Amino acid sequence: MGKKADKLFDGFDEETKLKLQIIRLYFREWIPVFLAKRPRAFQSVFVADLFSGKGQDAKGEEGSPLIILDEFRKFFASSENVWNGTKSYLLFNDYNPKTYEELRENLKRKGEDCAQGCKLFAQNVKHRVENRPFQEVFKEYARTLKSPSTACFLLLDQYGFKEVTVELLKEIAKFPAVDLIFFVSSSAVFRFARESSKNKGTITNYIPVNPSEVEELDSSQVHRYVCRTFSQAINEPNYHFAPFSLKSQNGNINGVIFGTKNLLGLQKFLDVAWKLDGSAGEANFNINDDRDLPLFPELSVPVKWQEFKAELLDFIKENQPDNLQIYRFALLNGVATVVAKKILENLCNDNLIKIEPLVNKVKAGTFYLDYKYYKTGDRRIRVLRS
Ligand SMILES: C[S@@+](CC[C@H](N)C(=O)[O-])C[C@H]1O[C@@H](n2cnc3c(N)ncnc32)[C@H](O)[C@@H]1O
Repeated sequence: MGKKADKLFDGFDEETKLKLQIIRLYFREWIPVFLAKRPRAFQSVFVADLFSGKGQDAKGEEGSPLIILDEFRKFFASSENVWNGTKSYLLFNDYNPKTYEELRENLKRKGEDCAQGCKLFAQNVKHRVENRPFQEVFKEYARTLKSPSTACFLLLDQYGFKEVTVELLKEIAKFPAVDLIFFVSSSAVFRFARESSKNKGTITNYIPVNPSEVEELDSSQVHRYVCRTFSQAINEPNYHFAPFSLKSQNGNINGVIFGTKNLLGLQKFLDVAWKLDGSAGEANFNINDDRDLPLFPELSVPVKWQEFKAELLDFIKENQPDNLQIYRFALLNGVATVVAKKILENLCNDNLIKIEPLVNKVKAGTFYLDYKYYKTGDRRIRVLRS
């Protein structure tokens, strides 16, 4: 194992713990979508954590593989009556032989604990551990990832960039139902940019960024930038990305990028992100540099809220959108539905917009911003400029 990974598993730092918290909270939202609903949309669920690490750190703090098992156990322990019969397959992988041995042991112990306490878990969650290079495992399981009857989640928590290339993401974005979290370190982005300036063009094989643009970037903005450029390079209008940046105590900035083809997936990720960062839904630090208390209370509205409010007003003026269009607009701008709802309330109170009902019974103050309306094309209201 590399020195970096060795150090990581000595004891997770605060930034790693927050990354793991994002993974845990997202799984808590993701699992019931596929296992608790009728009618079933998918026959099976497949989770692949392909850079697993050891499973836990030296102090026993759970890493991504054990967290994933734990969240499946929690679902089955509390949802006996709502489980819809879908089977779950979990795949873990690490190419380092020593890491793999520890991972296998940790998963065996955790798997047995989960199965002992929960019969449904024992019967319906199967896991496998591999000890191979990422590319090999990815190729072997590509058929499963491509299957329209399987809901998939892919966790790519590598260091650096070598494996998660534009080509790989293009391939994943074409698969029918793969949600994705991948890790991006801003120092790797800067390093690639520097090396690429010396050795023209190599960076674009990995990440589609422009070295001279990267040179101008503040490290706090790297994940926003990478997210935007990946989106443009992949050019798959229905595959959506959202970033979350994590600053460590020593000032380094790393982060995760979430990807999905499904607006419900994006809604769930943004719910988690805005719970952790109520100002911008994007970072564990002040990404817009706007948290100093201003002299006048009306100026204490976070920048992201102010910007979105102005964009939403323009959108309303131009489109007279219904609830489904506003739902989509909010998510694609990285705004959780709960925040969009508060902003709409605010605009109503200031008499800047008015709500036109499209069906007989419409509840005041309910803007019907949820995937359940979007999925069924259930238009309830239209929003107009006053
Ligand atoms: C950041 S750690 C994973 C941490 C883990 N996700 C967690 O949260 O507990 C990255 C791991 O990826 C493994 N790794 C790096 N490159 C790999 C590759 N090409 N194929 C498979 N595993 C790889 C390393 O051995 C290391 O254990």
